[in-house]
Formats: sequence, structure tokens, C-alpha cells
Amino acid sequence: MVLTFEPAVVVVGSVNLDTTIRVAMLPLPGETVLAATHHHQLGGKGANQAVAAAEAGASVAIVCALGDDRAAGQALDWLRARAVEVRPVRDRTRPTGRAWVMVGADGENAIVVDPGANAALTADLAIAAVLDEMRGGARAAPTLVVQGEVAPAVVDAVAAFAREHGLRLVLNLAPVIEVGEATLRTAAPLIVNEGEATALARRHLGADSRPADLARRWGIDVIITLGAEGAAIIPPDGEIRRVSAPPVDVVADTSGAGDAFVGAVAAALSQGLSLDEAAENGVAAGARAVRRWGASGIGDEQGSNR
Ligand code: RIB
Repeated sequence: MVLTFEPAVVVVGSVNLDTTIRVAMLPLPGETVLAATHHHQLGGKGANQAVAAAEAGASVAIVCALGDDRAAGQALDWLRARAVEVRPVRDRTRPTGRAWVMVGADGENAIVVDPGANAALTADLAIAAVLDEMRGGARAAPTLVVQGEVAPAVVDAVAAFAREHGLRLVLNLAPVIEVGEATLRTAAPLIVNEGEATALARRHLGADSRPADLARRWGIDVIITLGAEGAAIIPPDGEIRRVSAPPVDVVADTSGAGDAFVGAVAAALSQGLSLDEAAENGVAAGARAVRRWGASGIGDEQGSNR
């Protein structure tokens, strides 16, 4: 018997090896600080979102680009250990993406990313891999997820593919990159944090515009993540619905909380839940994520400097 994998969620996105560094205070420009510990973790917004969707019960595949190095093997092992099917493009010229994630005692973070092999994911390669996923199984309509850590041409191509095949696209513009208006109109929903929403509004609607105007402009649902305050759902008519987050006593690490939100929302939507139910699952996943160490919650336990 031939077993075929039928992903309910296909993430097109970045995979990094994160070095997560715990510091008392994030350094100021020109300052040197000593770390308490460092760990190696699975990271990259795409990988984190794929893991979160799998944790939320969806069958998940990730289309990504990896180098030909130890970090790639480590990332593959970690993803597969969380039941994420990996469809990697191999780049023999660049190393697997790396990120250095500094986390302060209050859980806030500062991140530097070297995209490395992630840049090898072209629109053609990404679409070919997504098509393969759809041919592999009987499931006609996986939910697609893409974020701003892949090239704008890849995001635009995934959106065009979603339109052509009638698939839902969960678009997370983190970071904000220059994508086409057609892509923004395809998002269902567009998920951004407050800073990203403000940047998008200024870029597309002018200096005086508000994030709430984004939904009306593109005729889409926009979800703005608000950290400890939960999230705001903004439909095209502008009637904002708030989703509150459960209280969290101790915040260990806020990196990856937004990715956990996106993955949980995509999983919920693929399971037929409403947008409001999906956002509730998203804030719950984000609250769980900030309690744990590392952006994906997967990695080595050690690496202490002391
Ligand atoms: O959102 C957190 C992620 O951003 C980290 O895992 C890091 O790799 C960067 O991509």
C-alpha cells in the first residue's frame, strides 16, 4: 500500500538555526554585555509557524530552502520530530539561515538574521513544491501560509497560486516586505503586529492612515497581534473585534510568540473553525509560547556559559 501525505497546512517559509542568548538587559548600541546562557534552537518564522500548526493538530508540510551543512541536518531532525514534513530546496553555495536572538530578563528580544540559504527559495521552486504537495494526496485544498522572511516574488507567487486554485492564504507580513496589492487582497487573513500594521498603513495608505484602514482598503480580514493584550480582528467593514489573551505569570521569551499565533490560526482555519475561534486559539498558543524558552520551543537544553 502506498501511503500519501496530505497536508492540511502548507507553509512556505524560512528555516533558521537560532542561537538564543539570555542576557540581563539587551545591549545598547556600542555596549558589550555578558550572556548567562545560550542555546541552539529551531527557528525561522516559517519553521516556527509550521511547528505551531502541527502542535495545533494539523498535518503540515513546509516548503523551504536549506544549506548543505550540519545546521540543515539539525533543522530537518527537529522539524521531523514535530511531525512536520519538509520539502527542502538545497543550496550548496550558502549556509542554512542563522539567527542570533538576544532575550532580556523581561522576555523582550532583539534578533539579527542572516538569511543564507533561505534566499535560494525562488517563486518557481516554491510553487513546484506546493504543487507536488497537492498531487501527493487527495486533499484538494490545503491552507497556505507565507511570511515576510522569503523573497517578495515568492510571496506574490504563493498568493497568485492561492487565487488560481481557490486556496486560503494566511499571510503574515513579518517583516513587512514589498508585495503586490493583489497579494494583499488575497490574504485571508493578513496577520501583522502593531508596528507592522502601522508601517503597512503608512506605506500603502499614506502618513495619516490608521492600521484599521488596511482591511477596508483591501477588502480583507486583518488580525493585529497585540502581545499580552491579545489580538484585534478587523473585517472590511472596520468593526473591530477584540480577542483577549490569557494571563501569563512569568514571561520567559517573547520570540516566536507571533509565529505560534500564525501557526495556530492556520491550523484552526484548516479545521473549519471561524476566524474568531482561530484567533482565540492563536492568542492561547502565543501565551504558551512566551512561557517557554526559544522561538519554536525545540532545541538543545544546554549551552550555558556559566
Ligand atoms: O519570529 C522569531 C524568528 O525570527 C526566530 O526564530 C528567528 O529565526 C527569526 O526568523
